[in-house]
Amino acid sequence: MQYTVQIITNHNESDNFESFLNDLTLSYFVEFFPEKDKDININIFFSNKYDQEDFLIKYYKWLNSNKKEHIFDVFLDNLFDKDWQNEWKQFFKPIVLDKFVVDINEDKKYSDKIKILIDPGMAFGNGGHPTTKNCLILIEKYFQKGMKALDFGCGSGILAIACSKLGAKYVDAVDNDDLAIEVSIKNIHNNQAKVNCKNSKHFAFRNDYHFIVANITVDILIKHFDFLTKNMKNIQYFILSGISDFRKNQMDLFLSYDKNFIIHEILEKDGWYTYCLKSKKKL
Ligand SMILES: C[S@@+](CC[C@H](N)C(=O)[O-])C[C@H]1O[C@@H](n2cnc3c(N)ncnc32)[C@H](O)[C@@H]1O
Repeated sequence: MQYTVQIITNHNESDNFESFLNDLTLSYFVEFFPEKDKDININIFFSNKYDQEDFLIKYYKWLNSNKKEHIFDVFLDNLFDKDWQNEWKQFFKPIVLDKFVVDINEDKKYSDKIKILIDPGMAFGNGGHPTTKNCLILIEKYFQKGMKALDFGCGSGILAIACSKLGAKYVDAVDNDDLAIEVSIKNIHNNQAKVNCKNSKHFAFRNDYHFIVANITVDILIKHFDFLTKNMKNIQYFILSGISDFRKNQMDLFLSYDKNFIIHEILEKDGWYTYCLKSKKKL
């Protein structure tokens, strides 16, 4: 499945629109169809619905802040037979962090870093999205060797692999999408990581995780928060990501009722927030 946004605009606006596109930190593939004296048809392809939604949020913000009227836009799924799975790779640049480098190729560069080799296929998680990148930064900072970890909503498996590479005693990775599980298992294998990866629907969760990371959406974070924290007395850090600035208030309100965690650190990038919660018991 690929996710498409089709925008139809006029020639005057198309340059502006192109510079807006160039500033985005999303993975996408774009095709312009200019026709003389006619509107321009622009098709933008995303590999997953999160990037498509993220694009739409940013697009409407951009229209608002520039006081532009959009002429016409349509969202279409699965319209063109494009090899998205590989098309985006030509634009990919390695993501270089303090400890990790995320890349799609076996490359000799960055030999001082811990390499995470990722092919997300049609799952989410090539490391470039702010919600994933900020989780990696917090994992670098707070994950300690010997911890037991859970990656809830693992997508490509990238965050579970990161924990494993930092010397986790045990990593569980779950997703409710079978395609994500298939992709994760391949990536886990390619990275020689030690991760137990299964569909969350039939998963027997342990009760002794020290570190949980969940990059999903506010609704799902809230829905599963009690389940993920109840009976899990060992939790030291809980990383919550996928919180857009539209939903941050809702997340803050929800957390203000919680008695077990403090908000230890918040990272923000491009309107996306990642929270590092710390257990009060471990203070
Ligand atoms: C934004 S992606 C994050 C992928 C990866 N962890 C990363 O940080 O790049 C969210 C993932 O959560 C999964 N997901 C959504 N709802 C879920 C649920 N209720 N239970 C388990 N996984 C879920 C989606 O299928 C998707 O793969």
